[in-house]
Amino acid sequence: MEKRGVITIDGPAGAGKSTVGRLLARNLGYLYIDSGSFYRAVAWQARRSGMDLKDLKALSAFLQGFQPRVTSDGQGFHLVINDREIKEELRQPWVSRAASEVAALPEVRRWVKERLRQLAQNGGVVTEGRDQGTVVFPDALCKFYLTADLATRARRRLQDYQKDGDPPPLEEVMKELAARDRQDETRNEAPLRVPEDAEVIDTTSLSIDEVVTECLARVRELLD
Ligand code: DC
Repeated sequence: MEKRGVITIDGPAGAGKSTVGRLLARNLGYLYIDSGSFYRAVAWQARRSGMDLKDLKALSAFLQGFQPRVTSDGQGFHLVINDREIKEELRQPWVSRAASEVAALPEVRRWVKERLRQLAQNGGVVTEGRDQGTVVFPDALCKFYLTADLATRARRRLQDYQKDGDPPPLEEVMKELAARDRQDETRNEAPLRVPEDAEVIDTTSLSIDEVVTECLARVRELLD
């Protein structure tokens, strides 16, 4: 396999994008990029600085000076802000909601897009999010769209919450996911869509291994 292209994975929350993306990247020796982390980091750091996320002027000024460092390894994609790795902080429910809010803003999307394209300039990346195959990397070598039914996605999210203790009821997680889906699908800027040339995989009744195997087969087909 000589070519080192860009592989995109889009889809709603809980479809398995992060786990599949990480394993696919590890298998191929590619860099794994979790584009949602950038939206989460913007929301987290802006709020911590006491900013009103609706104050676009302040947010634009903030973005100009915001330069999180990126590391990615077999464990995942990490952002380092002010010399500290920010991980669990970004997974808090309030950050998920605020991230969805800032992700609707053109200024923020432009800022994230620039960072993603910089990271991918030499190819060899697996990048996941909501607009990777449609807007950020329309010419990607290989595009996937992962999805699963709402109840399955909510159960997966609940398992993540259970690891941290004190999980909310399943109905609450379902409601929260449905609200985020709606916000991500109906916004004007880069709404969540299936890229035209993507392979769509419904992961509802598939194991992670099965999804990764299917993705790898497709990538190998395109690379060979
Ligand atoms: O994938 P995630 O849950 O970490 O994403 C956090 C939020 O950012 C989510 O509401 C969708 C948004 N997002 C986006 O709009 N575009 C991306 N490429 C990635 C995430």
